[in-house]
Amino acid sequence: MKGERVKFSGRSNGWGILAAGAIVSAGLLIPASYRVLHAEGTSSPSTDPAKWNEIASDAAVAGIVEGQVKGIEKSMKSAGTFRRALKKVEITGRVLAIVGNAETIRVEGEAAKKGAALREAGLALTKAAADKKFEEAEKPLASIKTFPDSISPAGDAKPTDWKSLMDMDGLMTGVASADNELKAALSAKPDEFKKLAKEAQHWATLMAYFGRVTREHETDEQWKKWSDDMTAQSLTLAKALASKNHDEAKSARDNLLKSCEACHEAYRVEE
Ligand code: HEC
Repeated sequence: MKGERVKFSGRSNGWGILAAGAIVSAGLLIPASYRVLHAEGTSSPSTDPAKWNEIASDAAVAGIVEGQVKGIEKSMKSAGTFRRALKKVEITGRVLAIVGNAETIRVEGEAAKKGAALREAGLALTKAAADKKFEEAEKPLASIKTFPDSISPAGDAKPTDWKSLMDMDGLMTGVASADNELKAALSAKPDEFKKLAKEAQHWATLMAYFGRVTREHETDEQWKKWSDDMTAQSLTLAKALASKNHDEAKSARDNLLKSCEACHEAYRVEE
């Protein structure tokens, strides 16, 4: 597998419009394909709770989950609306699975088991969307809505392998979508920006999660460096948004986009 050229799968999914919009406006270079440097490499999750606590707090996690649920509310109204938003529901489930998996590491005891329950519910939501079964999506969604207060904890809090939760294609689709939300908040007028800053902060935090998970997909140092850079710039952005500092937030996003571009440039394979 080493050195194999992986075809970049294109933007033909339901989230593609978002992804394309985000990229065209950001003027980003997208890898047409990329080289798998260490296909058989390690993919052990970061097991350092402090590393996750750098990114998120209980309040941030609750805010992200709430925002993700809100994002699919309309799609979950009926079997008909569901069928028109399968890709969106699928990715939302995976995002929630990532957040839940991080909770199994970030926090301890009962709270970690609730994180595992969130991950499993997220994966069940994803599966229901992949199988196009609305009724099967309703139950995990109901359980996700009870997070963190009253979700029933899973039997154990063992973290799952990150790569099994989201592949690179899914991650980058999520990343592009998060960036699109960030861009929208940052290009708003000052008054509007102040209203959007809180939600945008959740997207920036989520972007930091995506950086962490992207890191797990390869083992070479350069890849890890750009992934860590993406996480760090996302955190700076989240902080600027927390203090509703418009100028700082804009320049933080500019810096974040530089790390996207650097990695894309480094891993691009000429056709
Ligand atoms: C550590 C490396 C790395 C970083 C950092 C990175 N990317 Fe990517 N990106 C990739 C690779 C590799 C691909 C091709 C993935 C595939 O095979 O689909 C890709 C693909 C994409 C795609 C096309 C995905 C699709 O299937 O539609 C978009 C959009 C994208 N990246 C956006 C971003 C944005 C925005 C950022 C920064 C916030 C970013 N990326 C940061 C490595 C990276």
